[in-house]
Amino acid sequence: MCGIVGYAGPNDTVEALLNGLRRLEYRGYDSAGVAVIDDTGGVSVRKKSGKLVNLEDLLKASPLEAAGTGIGHTRWATHGGPTDVNAHPHLGDDGRLAVIHNGIVENFAELRDEVTSRGAELLSETDTEVVAVLLGLETASGKDLETAFREVVQRLHGTFTLLAMHQSEPGKIVAARHHSPLVVGLGEGENFLGFDVAAFVSSTRRAVVVNEDNIAIITPDSVRITDFTGAEVDFEEYEVEWDAGAADKGGWSSFMAKEINEQPEAIANTIRGRIVDGHVEIPELTALGEDRLKEIDRIIIVACGTASYAGMVGSYAIEQWARIPVEVQLSHEFRYRDPVLTDRTMVISVSQSGETMDTLMAVKYAIERGVTTVSVCNTQSATIPRESDAAVYTHAGPEVAVASTKAFVAQITALYLLGLHLGRVRGTLSAEDEAAAVEQFETLPEKMAEAVATHEQIAQLAHWMADTRSVLFLGRHVGYPAALEGALKLKEIAYIHAEGFAAGELKHGPIALIDHGQPVFVLVPSPRTSPLMHSKVVSNIQEIRARGARVIAIVEKGDTAVLPFADDVVRIPLTDALFDPILQVVPLQWFALELSTAKGLDVDQPRNLAKSVTVE
Ligand code: F6R
Repeated sequence: MCGIVGYAGPNDTVEALLNGLRRLEYRGYDSAGVAVIDDTGGVSVRKKSGKLVNLEDLLKASPLEAAGTGIGHTRWATHGGPTDVNAHPHLGDDGRLAVIHNGIVENFAELRDEVTSRGAELLSETDTEVVAVLLGLETASGKDLETAFREVVQRLHGTFTLLAMHQSEPGKIVAARHHSPLVVGLGEGENFLGFDVAAFVSSTRRAVVVNEDNIAIITPDSVRITDFTGAEVDFEEYEVEWDAGAADKGGWSSFMAKEINEQPEAIANTIRGRIVDGHVEIPELTALGEDRLKEIDRIIIVACGTASYAGMVGSYAIEQWARIPVEVQLSHEFRYRDPVLTDRTMVISVSQSGETMDTLMAVKYAIERGVTTVSVCNTQSATIPRESDAAVYTHAGPEVAVASTKAFVAQITALYLLGLHLGRVRGTLSAEDEAAAVEQFETLPEKMAEAVATHEQIAQLAHWMADTRSVLFLGRHVGYPAALEGALKLKEIAYIHAEGFAAGELKHGPIALIDHGQPVFVLVPSPRTSPLMHSKVVSNIQEIRARGARVIAIVEKGDTAVLPFADDVVRIPLTDALFDPILQVVPLQWFALELSTAKGLDVDQPRNLAKSVTVE
């Protein structure tokens, strides 16, 4: 949802901006643009609706001669449709300054009335142009860029990462953040700004996170950070863990295919260093203090989409091992229900990006009410983990495809580790349960590799089912959220109607949907470790089969009970029932990918979606 890049340095500015925007493409967008200080000393802009390739074509037809400073943007439309005119950058001060923006300026109508009453004409429907024009009115009145910028950002309500440059101060870019991220990349004789480190990681891995309500001022040779009043702020640089190659497709047909294949490694990375002498130990939780962990009497997991399904899976395990009641709430619903929170509540947020605005707002709400906040996150130094009391990173590596895959399994893994840590500290976890779980973790990456190898079988299945218009997914217990996730994947990238149900719920209504040939994926629990649930799910399969469903059963190897009732059987390795969804979801990911490919769709960047949703 919007990509933001700034470059100040001696190298090819347009290429630096395009390179950054390409690496931010995963965020989702519907128009793109760049502005540079050109070789005549003026500001020049090129912008175009649609994908980055349209902007690249425009730049070929009408090249920019840049003099070393520029800003670039990919826009996900909020105020005004995805047109050339609405694309960023927007200009102010008679074209002498350019602005790009992520977020929403909530008081834009009031500001628009002000600038139009001061004689300004607006070309677009965007809130950003209003800001550019307002800033231009201030610089035109004789203020320098920094002073004018500070005054303007203090007047904005809403959320923003905002970058601006002015031709009277070539070589300088100013950037502010308020509830939206901003990172500086430190190079040799060049500096970068980005929405996240992907914007510059191919040039430098030295980064500085700009804190909330701060302004960064960069030139090729200097970086300063101030607060909104102009007071200088100290900052620390850090080394980015992800290398540039990790964010390339690396020969795969899509990022999603690459990321599904990376799942064994992602899980291994989440587990690494967290099992010591047969015990699960998460140092970030240890740092919270044993007493604090022992006092927790309720956990609320807040998350959106796929991350909320990971939270649902995790809730079963945490409750089982730590004996604490756990509920899962969608982040955007959480604060509106006036939740009962005490100083013994723990709010665990789950977020791949660590920037999802709905989840960030839920976490802030929890912090204001004095509860303990723990962030399960994949992105180093993102806003949510930085705001939380403890951050448990999943270390799954960059996830670029909009549809989450490896982050999902890594989130479940991290939540399970967290549940085991809590159970041990609180004395609720038996030695046998701990040993059994640790054994599962030790073999999980290997088993995941086997689950990934179901690809060929699923590709054939998808080939036969290419015309499918609706698919149902059934699961019980931890299989239920995995079924929801299977349905979400199919909706997101193959645009096929799909629903996930708790298998037991079917006869309370949804079974009416079953008609001749209706495809239904059923996630069958392990018969060895969960015989009761297994027999119930086999009964559910018989019920839908009797009504004409085409059953595709995902079963543990050696499970023959379903054979008489299933049209297709996909086998995954033996594991304990709690760990089933981590493996069962993989064929569902492949299925969505294959159907999307069969329909000729863009697997990595489905329509209307953004990788990280940074507006509420
Ligand atoms: C689905 C998907 C989304 C995200 C959701 C939360 O494939 O990726 O449903 O899971 O938008 O995003 P994060 O985890 O970044 O908070």
